[in-house]
Amino acid sequence: MNIPYRLIVTGLGALVFSGLLYGYAQAGGGHYYAPVTDTVVQEECGACHMAYAPAMLPARSWQRMMAGLDQHFGDNASLDAATAARVGNYLASHAADAPGQPYRAKLVRSLPESAAPLRITELPGWVNKHRKVSAREWADPAVRSKSNCSACHTTAQRGYYED
Ligand code: HEC
Ligand code: HEC
Repeated sequence: MNIPYRLIVTGLGALVFSGLLYGYAQAGGGHYYAPVTDTVVQEECGACHMAYAPAMLPARSWQRMMAGLDQHFGDNASLDAATAARVGNYLASHAADAPGQPYRAKLVRSLPESAAPLRITELPGWVNKHRKVSAREWADPAVRSKSNCSACHTTAQRGYYED
């Protein structure tokens, strides 16, 4: 029997390669930040803006944010104690630095351990990724705010930020 080894080897190589690509995209190869899957968090933190991906900020930022929801960027976003506990737990356990995260999100990599920013848009990593966006683009009526991710990233709700 004449087994075409080369075909088998190439086939295996392709399988391993696509597996790697798939794993990379799922784990967050810079473009992918897992969206919120908890329906309560989705409802409570997605009412005024998109529910931001928890892996975009470290747990200490989410803790600080949850402690000041009554004064949340000029809005009152307070929650009852039970809901706040659930939301806070979810955000912290899916944060950029949460234990078990397969990959430390690129956006927070250069953030000092002592810093707990409340804005993703103030992270050095985020500012760096957006350095080529012009003032005119930020001021576009369809954008208005840097926080309005989905204006430019049409697939942000699904976790993909390629552009
Ligand atoms: C009542 C409305 C409201 C609710 C509810 C709300 N937010 Fe916000 N949030 C805002 C406003 C307003 C801003 C500032 C947006 C801007 O600057 O354009 C903001 C900004 C943010 C930002 C910073 C975005 C950036 O610029 O990087 C984060 C993170 C955030 N919210 C998380 C949350 C989380 C987590 C929850 C749920 C616990 C939540 N928000 C619920 C109104 C709300
Ligand atoms: C005005 C349009 C605009 C808005 C609003 C915007 N972005 Fe972006 N973003 C871009 C562009 C353009 C790039 C690509 C920059 C490059 O490749 O040079 C980018 C790149 C990124 C990347 C890097 C993707 C990669 O290639 O690794 C991430 C992550 C990201 N944005 C997240 C966000 C988040 C989160 C928000 C909201 C808090 C946001 N962006 C708001 C335009 C925008």
